[in-house]
Amino acid sequence: MPDLSLFVLTGKKALVTGGAVGIGRACAVALAKAGADVAIVDLDAKTGEATAKEIGGMGRNGLFVKCDVTSRDQVQAMVKAVAAKFGRLDIAVNNAGIAILGADEEIPQAQWDKVIAVNLTGTFLCAQAEARQMISQKPTEGKIINIASMSATIANCNASYDASKAGVVHMTKTLAAEWGRFNINVNCLSPSYVLTPMHASTPLIARQRIRELTPLGHVERPEDLYGAVIFLASAASNYVTGHDLMVDGGHTLNAWLVPLGRSVPPRVGADQETVQMKHDLDTMGIRYDKDGINPSVHPEIANAFKAAFGLKD
Ligand SMILES: NC(=O)c1ccc[n+]([C@@H]2O[C@H](COP(=O)([O-])OP(=O)(O)OC[C@H]3O[C@@H](n4cnc5c(N)ncnc54)[C@H](O)[C@@H]3O)[C@@H](O)[C@H]2O)c1
Repeated sequence: MPDLSLFVLTGKKALVTGGAVGIGRACAVALAKAGADVAIVDLDAKTGEATAKEIGGMGRNGLFVKCDVTSRDQVQAMVKAVAAKFGRLDIAVNNAGIAILGADEEIPQAQWDKVIAVNLTGTFLCAQAEARQMISQKPTEGKIINIASMSATIANCNASYDASKAGVVHMTKTLAAEWGRFNINVNCLSPSYVLTPMHASTPLIARQRIRELTPLGHVERPEDLYGAVIFLASAASNYVTGHDLMVDGGHTLNAWLVPLGRSVPPRVGADQETVQMKHDLDTMGIRYDKDGINPSVHPEIANAFKAAFGLKD
């Protein structure tokens, strides 16, 4: 048997913000698969409780803590509650994030402020409270993983989202430099287009275009992040800090025409892409068609894609 102990998280105590569904839930499931106890931190109590129960069903301790990451008071209370319940905090995944679409020449300031408040300020507030907890512990060490996006690197969504994610990547580098002296690793994980409830509004024609432009040939699923999360949370990454780990199937290589020359089927077929997304929509009580599509989940996303592809209602 190979010795995989470097990746084992048995006994580790973790929290995941925005952990109820999507990428956050995938991170929580990955950490629990590797042996960690996991607190699900989210605004959505109903779905968050259900996900925490699932973690319990995997033989780990699952805990739900309701928290809005934009509130410093709530974030500090949340970290205290997790540490009180688990005894310490070893791993924190700061994943809670939002995108509000809109033309940048028109969006109101409130929209900009909201996206920056959740994605950038919220990530900082969480990292700060988590680091303080980790610094107070013996032995002093920890792993902080901030979920950024390929939008930190390529112009992809809109200015508020892309700028917030670029901010997360650079903030991560600064925090990594500052907190290395406490044996705290701070890294980013940057996914591409991941099929989460957010993408239930993405029409099939757009998913097909993403496949065509991605060297590995399938739309990213939350499960595609399992290995990267376990790596960044475990001793396997002890000498990695300030890094932005892109998990994007090669999408941001901007290879354009090269992926069109694919001659073997991708590892994951279109029918397998939506398994976790459908699970999340079920947990949220949202109906969808056989392809996992319900345009009303995020009508603004559906409308943006319809306009881009010239689709009619
Ligand atoms: N889905 C993608 O294509 C994609 C790609 C790259 C990066 N990301 C990033 O990954 C993260 C998760 O994305 P997702 O697609 O799973 O999103 P999602 O909308 O499916 O889930 C986000 C979760 O965060 C929670 N949340 C939102 N605001 C919160 C707040 N203020 N405090 C606490 N919880 C809050 C929501 O309740 C929800 O459970 C986000 O940071 C997003 O920007 C997503």
